[in-house]
Amino acid sequence: MVEEVEMARAVSTSRSSGARPLRLGEIELTADHRAGTGIPEFDHVLGGGLVRGSLVLLGGEPGIGKSTLLLQAAVSIAAGGAKVLYVCGEESPAQVKMRADRIGGCDGELSLLPEVDITVVEEVALRERPDVLVVDSIQTALDPELSGAPGSVGQVRACTARLMRLAKDEGVTTLIVGHVTKEGAIAGPRVLEHMVDTVLYFEGDRDHAFRIVRATKNRFGSVSEIGVFEMTERGLEAVGSPSAALLAEKPEGVPGSVVMATVEGSRPLLVEVQALVTPSYLQMPRRLATGVELPRVLQVLAVLERRAGLRFGDQDVYVSVAGGVKVSEPAVDLPLALALVSARRDAPAPAATVAFGELGLAGELRPVPHIEPRLREAEQMGFATALTGGGRLPSGGRIDVRRLSSVSEIAGLLS
Ligand code: TYD
Ligand code: MG
Repeated sequence: MVEEVEMARAVSTSRSSGARPLRLGEIELTADHRAGTGIPEFDHVLGGGLVRGSLVLLGGEPGIGKSTLLLQAAVSIAAGGAKVLYVCGEESPAQVKMRADRIGGCDGELSLLPEVDITVVEEVALRERPDVLVVDSIQTALDPELSGAPGSVGQVRACTARLMRLAKDEGVTTLIVGHVTKEGAIAGPRVLEHMVDTVLYFEGDRDHAFRIVRATKNRFGSVSEIGVFEMTERGLEAVGSPSAALLAEKPEGVPGSVVMATVEGSRPLLVEVQALVTPSYLQMPRRLATGVELPRVLQVLAVLERRAGLRFGDQDVYVSVAGGVKVSEPAVDLPLALALVSARRDAPAPAATVAFGELGLAGELRPVPHIEPRLREAEQMGFATALTGGGRLPSGGRIDVRRLSSVSEIAGLLS
């Protein structure tokens, strides 16, 4: 329970406010509202750059690289001639300067403001008129008119609302950082999602090599676009070919390992789905999943038991998507089933093969969208065969497409 203090509202006494609705035809659009951040991978997630006057929220666990990414963006935006104001409520200007030096220094117009009071931030922004404002982080921002502590739901919401007004009224593109904590964060970025234009999340955790930034909401672009970065000694670097990077560690000829061709936003991506099936010593066998939702795994297991005659009831099952990627589309069913059968039978899945397809409860394979980009990516990465269900296949292409109609055919694919 969080206390929200009622605020006095100015009551308008006059009956006519003079407000007039605008006819759609009256509204003028000026072209080129978007500006690149100088980091192509970041622009891709944003849907092609930052829209002027938009409010972007970047969420993620502490230490994952939010400040680094926004500072890198701030530095390259400033280098491009725009004016950037970076509000550092969490760190001292010296700390930010050290980070800036680490990622290559800055020679543009980038100023730091060590401040938590949102009224002061507004005042400075109105005086300095930056093109881009970065607030790191919203949990440290404080609205002095409210009683709550910084980071409380009321404070975080009020401060975001004020930044929103600044962004819309003055056309200041604003980027805010929001921490997500393992405990589910009472005043985390989730309570702000509806207020901002774009929500980006850092996926995975600090222990993974790759840092994936995903758009979960975007008023100016498509959602679930991802950007794949790697944390290096000199900040975050875009991973040129995410598929190649994600498959770099894939073991060859090991049971339970299958390559899936997935699509994230507009981008096809090859990921490795792994399964491990071992005899269980527990009354209730263990089922663990990372990178895929556990209910999906349970459903695929049930379909395999019932429609392919495989027993998992006395087995512990572990499933994971390598590299810290999260796959949430139904097309993961087929690669998952293949990995599970391969692990259960202790026989490797066919080599140089990718898979994608949705499994119905009757054991049938269903068509999935975006077949062409998946096949193209697999072809480019040197795969010879693609396993899938129905759906219209594109003509041409070097890859050999094998269609399965039922889950019972999976066992026959194993060597
Ligand atoms: P940071 O951006 O401060 O995380 P957040 O703002 O999300 O809390 O950085 C996270 C980690 O990245 C930190 O442990 C240090 C590391 N790091 C590098 O490895 N290389 C670098 O060039 C920088 C700037 C940071
Ligand atoms: Mg930070």
